[in-house]
Amino acid sequence: MTSLKSIVRGTGSYLPERLLTNDDLAKMVDTSDEWIVQRTGIRQRHVAAEGEFTSDLAVKAAREALDDAGFDISDIDLIIVATTTPDMTFPATATLVQQKMGMHHGVAFDLQAVCSGFVFAVATADNYIKSGMAKRALVIGAETFSRILDWTDRTTCVLFGDGAGAIVLEGVEGGEEGILASSLRSDGAHWQKLYVDGGVSSTQTTGHVHMEGREVFKHAVGMISDVVENVLESAGYTCEDLDWFIPHQANKRIIDAAGRKLGIPAEKTIVTVDRHANTSAASVPLALREAVKDGRVNKGDLVMIEAMGGGFTWGASLIRW
Ligand code: ACO
Repeated sequence: MTSLKSIVRGTGSYLPERLLTNDDLAKMVDTSDEWIVQRTGIRQRHVAAEGEFTSDLAVKAAREALDDAGFDISDIDLIIVATTTPDMTFPATATLVQQKMGMHHGVAFDLQAVCSGFVFAVATADNYIKSGMAKRALVIGAETFSRILDWTDRTTCVLFGDGAGAIVLEGVEGGEEGILASSLRSDGAHWQKLYVDGGVSSTQTTGHVHMEGREVFKHAVGMISDVVENVLESAGYTCEDLDWFIPHQANKRIIDAAGRKLGIPAEKTIVTVDRHANTSAASVPLALREAVKDGRVNKGDLVMIEAMGGGFTWGASLIRW
């Protein structure tokens, strides 16, 4: 029996330069800074420039993660890009990242689980590493969500932003560090609560995001709590053992409610939704990078990442830093 563990060797992130504040949005649709902050906690979001694609954001985050790890792209044999907003219908954005980074070996593919994509990609890469199919993985969450928003719909366009985050995983024998456990779930019965009304096979258009906000909210807290408790139980820990809780950054009210239900204090919770808004698959690695860079997450810390999104999909991973 192998005792291989996937250890996080490096983290990176990238946010597009252009900032869009709530006041900017109030000039575009009938909304206000006060409404958005009170209902969501969001104050601003970053928006990709014209001609700046998901793969460009992903490459910038990946380069920073590689630098942080002290690795070169030649050290990597697996790239997974979690995204809902690929550059093109095909090829996979991960192969474009591979090409832009000058990597010709190994394997690269996309993973689609909407906002849960990064957590799904971490669990997938971990299993590639533990099974011996890969040694070192670049796991990226990257989105240009601004491209699938209806900028005349105030109920959705105020909620999302663009960005990318990445981690480098390496398989190491023995030791305490690394990914301890993951749990992934989905239930397609909920797809109509959060979806994009376009697609290759159905409409041959890209479509726009539609959401029943209250329904999503209602399910989010329970689903997040279930999967977090599930992961902790399978690894033999409780919420009290956690040093850091790094939730998907969809809405401050969801983060607060999940924290309350789980009994995780606000001081242990990483929040970036105020500045990034919901960047879908990029939100968790963006928050993770921030907390590592500013020195909050340190070696030996017990870190929980979790996300929930369209499908519904939801999942969590427990990492000993
Ligand atoms: N500005 C001003 N008024 C608005 C806006 C806006 N941007 N959006 C909606 N409203 C109005 C509505 O039209 C409605 O007006 P009415 O009462 O005259 O009909 C009123 O505000 C209340 O609308 P609700 O949708 O009931 O508002 P709610 O309090 O539920 O807040 C929100 C909406 C923020 C979307 C909330 O439901 C929510 O947080 N849901 C969770 C969904 C979420 O975060 N999704 C992110 C993606 S999913 C994920 O990543 C997990």
